[in-house]
Amino acid sequence: MKEGCSQTTHATGILYLILTDCALRLVLRAGLRVAPSLSSSLLYRAKTAGRSLIHAARAATACLGCGVQCAALLNDDCWATCTATTLVGSTVIQAIYLALAVDGLFGEKLGRRRGVVAAAAVGLPAALLARQSIARYALYWALFCLTKQSLQMALWRYRGWRAPPLPITLPLLGNLVPAAPAFMRFLLRQAKRHFSKEGLFLFWPAGGAPLCVIAHAKAARKILSDRRTFPKGPDYRRKFGFVFGDGLVTAEGTSHARARKLLAPYFRPDRLEAKGVLEAFQSSLSLLKEGDVDVQSFFHLATLRAFCRCLLSEDVDAWKRDHNDGRGDVARFVAEACSFGSLVVGEHMLFDLPMSETLFGRVRKLRRMRDSLRSQVLRPVVEQRRRLAERPDDCLTALIEHQSIDASFTDDDVLDQLVTLIGAGHDTSAYFLCYACFELARNPEIQDALREELSTDDDDLFRRVVRETLRLYPVIPMVTRVASCATTVVDGCGKEKAVPQGARLIVPFFLLNRLPEVWGSDAADFRPDRFLDINGGVAAPSQGFLPFGSGARTCVGQSLALLEARIFLRELLDEYELRPVPGFAPIIKAGVSLTSAGGVRVRLVKRA
Ligand code: HEM
Repeated sequence: MKEGCSQTTHATGILYLILTDCALRLVLRAGLRVAPSLSSSLLYRAKTAGRSLIHAARAATACLGCGVQCAALLNDDCWATCTATTLVGSTVIQAIYLALAVDGLFGEKLGRRRGVVAAAAVGLPAALLARQSIARYALYWALFCLTKQSLQMALWRYRGWRAPPLPITLPLLGNLVPAAPAFMRFLLRQAKRHFSKEGLFLFWPAGGAPLCVIAHAKAARKILSDRRTFPKGPDYRRKFGFVFGDGLVTAEGTSHARARKLLAPYFRPDRLEAKGVLEAFQSSLSLLKEGDVDVQSFFHLATLRAFCRCLLSEDVDAWKRDHNDGRGDVARFVAEACSFGSLVVGEHMLFDLPMSETLFGRVRKLRRMRDSLRSQVLRPVVEQRRRLAERPDDCLTALIEHQSIDASFTDDDVLDQLVTLIGAGHDTSAYFLCYACFELARNPEIQDALREELSTDDDDLFRRVVRETLRLYPVIPMVTRVASCATTVVDGCGKEKAVPQGARLIVPFFLLNRLPEVWGSDAADFRPDRFLDINGGVAAPSQGFLPFGSGARTCVGQSLALLEARIFLRELLDEYELRPVPGFAPIIKAGVSLTSAGGVRVRLVKRA
C-alpha cells in the first residue's frame, strides 16, 4: 500500500504542478486587471477590494479545509487503517469543501453543479500541498515553467516563427514587462528592430499561449478574407458576446450572413440622409465652447445622436430609463456605457482575462450597465415601435419585421443587434473625429485648405485627410482571429510559416500603418498627400492599409462614418478655428478602440 501511495504522490505531484501553474497564471492576469482598476476611484477601489476579500476569504477557508481533508485521505496511516465508510465519508466532505472553494472563486461563472464537478477534479492535486515543503515545491514549479516554455518556443521555432529575443521573452512573464505600458508601441518597436523583412512574429502574453502577430500586408489580407480558416473564434465570441450577444460583430456562419443581409442595405450611401447627421451636430454644438476643450464627449454624443437618427429614426435624447430621467440623460448613459464596454472588453481580450463577474468588479459594473441598457432603455423602444401602425423603413423596423418571417429570430436577437449597432456605430466614428481634429489643429495649412474644400462639392483632400488620420490612428487598432485548422501563412521573405489549429492571430493595423519599410522614413508624420500616389478607395490594401477591415467582415458602417466625418468637420471648421493645446499629446491606449487616456484636447477659437 505504501508503494502505491508513493506512486500516487508522484503522479499527483505532477498534476499539482500543472494546477498551480494555471492558478498562478490566473492570479497574474487578475493582477493586471486589478492594477488599472485601483486608480479609477477611491470608493470603487474600496468596494472592489472588500468584495474580493470576502471571496478570497471564503475560498481560502474552504481550500484550507479541503487541503486537510485531502491530506487525511492520502495519509499513509489512513490508507492502511481506513474503512470503506470513512473513505467515502471523507470524500464527500472533501467534495463539499471544494465545491465551496470553487463557488467562492468562480461560482457565478460556473454555476453550482459544474462547480462541484470542477471541485472534484482538483481534489487530489490539492492534497499534495499539505505534504510538500514550499521551497522544494517552488523550485519544481520554476523548473516546470522553464521547461514548458522552452519546449513551446522550440516547437514554434520549428514551425518557422521567431519571438522577440531574450531577455524580453521570459518564462511565465512572456513579453509582459516591456509590453505592458504600451502594447502597440512595443509591437511596433519589435517589428522595426527585429522583424522588418519577415513581418510575422510571436508575442507572448503573460503566461498564455503566444499570439501570432501578422504585420505583413499580403498575409493580413489573406487572413481577413478567409473567414472559414480564420474565424473570430470562441474566445472573441465569449468576450464580445458578453456585451453584444449574437449581434453582427460577434455572430458567425449563417447567423452572421442573415444579419448582414438584413442590415447592410440600410448602410448604403444612397439610403443615408445627411439631414439627420446635420441635426445631430447642431443639437450637440452647445457642448463646445471657446478655449481648451476635450472633444471626446462632444463627438461621442454627436455621433450617437447621428446614428440613432439615420439608422433607427429615433431621437436618442427622448429615451428614458425611468420617469426621473431628463432629456439627454439616457443619451449620455448610452455613450458612457459603450465607451466603458469597449475599454473593459478590449483589456480582457488583450490580456486574455476571463469575463468573470466574480473576479472583476468592472465586469459586474459592465453587466449592470448592459442589463439596464437592454431592459430599461432598448426594450421599451422596440415595444413602442412594434405598436406603431406605420413604421419608418429603417434597421429597427427591419429587425422587428424579420421576426414575422423567421420564428427563430427572438426578441433577444433583436436587442443583440441593436446593442451591437449602437456600440459599433458611434464609438469608432467619435474617436476618429477626435484624432482628425487633433491633427488638423497641429497642421493649420491643411486645416485651411480642408475648410475651403469642404465648402464646395469636392472631396479629394477630405478623403486624403480621412485616410491619413486612419493610418496614424486606426480606431480599430487590431483585429484577432483563430486558426480553425492547421494551415500556413507566408511571411515577407516568401517563407511559409506553419500555423497550428487553435493558434491565435492578431492583425495589428496600428503596426501595418506605421512601418517605415512601407510608408517611408516619415511614417510617423501626418502627411495626407502621401496618398496622392497610392491607388484605392478609402483603403490602400496593397500597402496593408485596411482601416475598415477586409473580406466578409469588412465594416458595414463605412459610408455612415464618412458622411459623419464630412458633415461634422465642415460644420466644426466653419464655426471654429482649431489650434493645438501647448504640451498636449494623446496617450494612446489600444483596446477595442484606439482610446486616449488623457482625452483629446484641442483649442477652439471662434471664427469671425
Ligand atoms: C471611422 C469609423 C470606423 C472604423 C475605422 C471602423 C472599422 C471597422 C473594422 C476594422 C471592422 C472589422 C472588424 C473585424 O474584421 O474584426 C469593422 C466592423 C464593423 N463595423 Fe465598423 N468602423 C467604423 C465605423 C462604423 C460605424 C459608423 C458603424 C455603424 C454601425 C460600424 C459598424 C460595424 C459593424 C457592425 C462591424 C462588423 C461587421 C461584420 O462583422 O459583418 N462601424 N469596423
